Amino acid sequence: MRLKKIQTYKFKNKKVLLRAGLNVPIENGEVREAYKIEAIKDTVDFIIAQGGKVTLVSHLGRPLEYHKNNPGAEWMEQFSLRQILPNLRGILNRNIKFVSSCHSNVIKKELETSADDEVVLLENVRFYEEEKKNDAEFARKLAENFDVFVNDAFGVCHRSHASVIGVTKTLPAFAGFQLQREVKNLERVKKYPEHPAVAIIGGAKIETKLPLIEALSENYDFILVGGKIANEAVDKNINFNSRVILPVDFAGEGRFDIGEYTIKEFSKIISQAETIVWNGPLGLFEKKPYDKGTRKIMEAIVQSGAFSVVGGGESVEAVQKNNLADKFSFVSTGGGAMLEFLSDEAMPGLEVLIDNK
Ligand code: 3PG
Repeated sequence: MRLKKIQTYKFKNKKVLLRAGLNVPIENGEVREAYKIEAIKDTVDFIIAQGGKVTLVSHLGRPLEYHKNNPGAEWMEQFSLRQILPNLRGILNRNIKFVSSCHSNVIKKELETSADDEVVLLENVRFYEEEKKNDAEFARKLAENFDVFVNDAFGVCHRSHASVIGVTKTLPAFAGFQLQREVKNLERVKKYPEHPAVAIIGGAKIETKLPLIEALSENYDFILVGGKIANEAVDKNINFNSRVILPVDFAGEGRFDIGEYTIKEFSKIISQAETIVWNGPLGLFEKKPYDKGTRKIMEAIVQSGAFSVVGGGESVEAVQKNNLADKFSFVSTGGGAMLEFLSDEAMPGLEVLIDNK
C-alpha cells in the first residue's frame, strides 16, 4: 500500500491539522501509559522544523456513549483531552495551547494568537456527535482554518469519522511517520511473513477475533489462542483448522489464565518462530497470579529473536509494564485497527491517503 507521505509536502508557513491518536488510558486524571503520545513526536517535530504550524485533533474514549449510559454522571472532565497536557508538554518538549472546542470560529481566534512553534491541542473531537457520523459540514468547518491534513492516528483508520476521512474532502492529506511505520510493519507480517510464522491471539470477545484467526490461518503456521476467547472457543466447541492451537489446560477453577502445560507448549512453538504477531492478553493479566501466562508468553516472544509485532491496548500495556517494548520489533498503536488491517477489512482512513500516482 503506497501512501502519500509527509516527506513529499512542503510545510513552510502551512497550517496543519494533525489527526493524532491520543486515546490514552487515564486513571484518576493521570495518564497511565503514554506510548501513543510518544508515537507522534517525530511527525510533529518534522512539520515544525519545516516551518509548519501544528494543531492536534484527537478523540479520547467514547464520551457520548458514556454520557448516554450514565445519565447524571460527570463526563466532560473525564473525557477532556486537557488531562493529557502535562504528558504532551513533556514528551513533545514544546509549549501547548489547549483549545476547549473544535468549533471553527474558536480555532481561528486561537490560531491568530498562538506562537509559531506552539502546538495547539483541540478538545476531544468525540464530544461532537457529527464526528462519528462523518457529517460533511462538520468536517468542512473543522478543516477550514487549515492548509493541509496529516493523519498519524492508525488506531482510528478503520473508522469513517469526520476527523479521519471527512476533512480530506477539502484538504490535501498525507500520512505521518507513525502511520507509515504501522503500514510497513503490519504489511510485512501480513503479506510476507517469514516462516515459521506464529500468531498469538488473546483477549475477550471472540467475534472480534474470529476474522483475524481465519485470515491468518491462510499463511500462518500456528495460531495460538489464549485469554477469554480461548474459554469461549472451548465452551462453544468452535471448530478451527489444525493450525489453530487452543490451550490444553487453564489456571485455577475460574480459568482466568492459560495453564502450565499450555505455557510450555506455546513457548516451544514460539521459540522456533521467525515471525510473531501478538494481540490480546492470554489471561486476566491485571490480576495476579493470572498475569503469569501473558508474562511467560511475552518473555518467550522476546527471547525467540523473531520479527515480532504486538498491538492492542492491554497487550501493549503488559509489554510496557515489563519494560519490554524495545525488545519487540514493532509496537502498534492500533487495537481494533490492527485486527482489521490484518484481517483484510476495509481501512477507510488509509484509503483516502493512497498515492495513486
Ligand atoms: C484507539 O486506538 O484509539 C481505539 O481503538 C479506537 O477507539 P474506538 O474503538 O472507540 O474507535
